[in-house]
Amino acid sequence: MNKKSPSMLIGIDMKSISQEIEIIKKELAAAVAAITHETSLEAVRVAFLGRKGKIADLMEQLKSLSVEEKKIVGPLLNQLKTEAQEQLDACATTLKEKELAQKKLLQKNFDVSAYRYNELKGTSHIYTQIIADLEDVFISMGYDIADGPEVENEYYNFESLNIPADHPARDAQDSFFLEKKGMMLRTQCSSVQAREMEKSQPPIAIFCPGRVYRQEATDQTHDFLFTQAEILLVDKNISVSNLLATAHTFLRKIFDNETLEIRVRPGFFPFVEPGLEIDASCPFCTTGCSVCKHTRWIELLGTGMVHPNVLRSSGIDPTIYSGFAFGMGIERIAMIKYGINDIRLFHSSKIKFLNQFS
Ligand code: DAH
Repeated sequence: MNKKSPSMLIGIDMKSISQEIEIIKKELAAAVAAITHETSLEAVRVAFLGRKGKIADLMEQLKSLSVEEKKIVGPLLNQLKTEAQEQLDACATTLKEKELAQKKLLQKNFDVSAYRYNELKGTSHIYTQIIADLEDVFISMGYDIADGPEVENEYYNFESLNIPADHPARDAQDSFFLEKKGMMLRTQCSSVQAREMEKSQPPIAIFCPGRVYRQEATDQTHDFLFTQAEILLVDKNISVSNLLATAHTFLRKIFDNETLEIRVRPGFFPFVEPGLEIDASCPFCTTGCSVCKHTRWIELLGTGMVHPNVLRSSGIDPTIYSGFAFGMGIERIAMIKYGINDIRLFHSSKIKFLNQFS
């Protein structure tokens, strides 16, 4: 665009400048007619009216004419400049009007339903939600969140938990053992107990959610992979009453039911003494329903006072400290809370299932 105009080539005299003015007028008319957009408008303006544009070129040439000639050509050039400015202004106005008209047309024809589509909204997985709810409850009671490895060694999964060599869980039928000797997929989150107790002396208060693996056939209530949470509290003077109060408080909170009651039964787990099982009153009925199998009670927690052997093997003196631990199936809590009837749905990636928890 900034190339020198042809007038420079044909020599500088009044006649050639006058001819040049005529040529530029024609070029301008053609260029203005071709403008469709503000960017091309600006390019034309620079090419003709810019500091190094065609008209500025001619102004430059004007200097070499005599005073008389200047008197004749000068006004012609000024007129050209004014005309160019007017044409470009008019063009800008037309462009603006066109744009406005187009907007109006779009608004008039805008069909709100035309752009409707089924938006797939992401949401956190039901696991994430229920674990976050559980964590909130335990954090509010002063617990820390702990984590442990899913690929575990037999020591933390069994020995440290006072699980004897002939315990059925040690059988290859029940656990997934890895090729590397002594390694396995943890069968329970209780495996984090010794890991946490080895790290520090009491008081220890941890909530540990995580995946566990068991070699078993799957059905509506069993899966080979599921999620547990382990709770461990060790300090001076911890008794069964602390255990019951904690379990009761947590169950009432998680089921959002202030009248929920608990029932305690004896149970056996090698790593606690006494071992207990805690049932919650059915949150859905008072007389029996299909969820509680018409018993009014739902089995929820395995628990007990941490066995002295477990404390001892982790370097904690059982004559000074005592503690309780309990474990729960996270899917089981969610299944009862939300009325889910098949544990396998949790890993199914079925959007229909997952969307219900958005
Ligand atoms: N780890 C046990 C299981 O997977 C659950 C359990 C029972 C955890 C008793 C505990 C406990 O901490 O005290 O079945």
